[in-house]
Amino acid sequence: KNIVILISGRGSNMQAIVRAAAAEHWDCRIAAVVSNRPDAEGLAFAAAHGIATAVVPSKQFASRDDFDAALREEIDRHAPDLVVLAGFMRILTPAFVAHYQGRMLNIHPSLLPSFPGLATHRQALAAGVKIHGATVHFVTAELDHGPIVAQAAVPVLPGDTEQSLAERVLREEHRIYPEAVHWFIEGRLKIEDGVVHLDAAQT
Ligand code: GRF
Repeated sequence: KNIVILISGRGSNMQAIVRAAAAEHWDCRIAAVVSNRPDAEGLAFAAAHGIATAVVPSKQFASRDDFDAALREEIDRHAPDLVVLAGFMRILTPAFVAHYQGRMLNIHPSLLPSFPGLATHRQALAAGVKIHGATVHFVTAELDHGPIVAQAAVPVLPGDTEQSLAERVLREEHRIYPEAVHWFIEGRLKIEDGVVHLDAAQT
């Protein structure tokens, strides 16, 4: 199976997936890492690991539709079975999302459905929640609302800052995102009435 990973910056979740795929000998190929920003730090890691990289510079497109069409063309050159959004900071058009329905995953740094959108750690601190975390979900047209594949929770501790909380959540992201992608590769994820079921592993 082919995986295309989309990033916008550091790409630490992408790195976690690339490392896990190699270490655990997943039955798949990371066909490409695509960024909407030419300066995304994660591109260098991907190239150093022999993965094809591409940039579709969102700033250079007049409209969201034009950008999404170019992005889709670049992604589909690699015939992906799965598209993985890993810190990809662009809102995608409904047509784009529909094209990858059931085969595009995202990670969001909150326990959805709490705190969709941006600045999730700030939102969590402002709300005074005592538990926070991360969610892997299928991408649907409504931002940060698709069927939930995996979640991990962390405590919010006294004295936490946005940064300390983000670091604690990120460690969990690096654990659950590779695991969820592996489940997809193994064909173990079923969506029924908007709810994801995990089939037992084949032995
Ligand atoms: C992660 O916290 C991700 O959940 C969020 O942006 C951050 C991206 O980090 N949407 P990285 O690029 O994977 O290092």
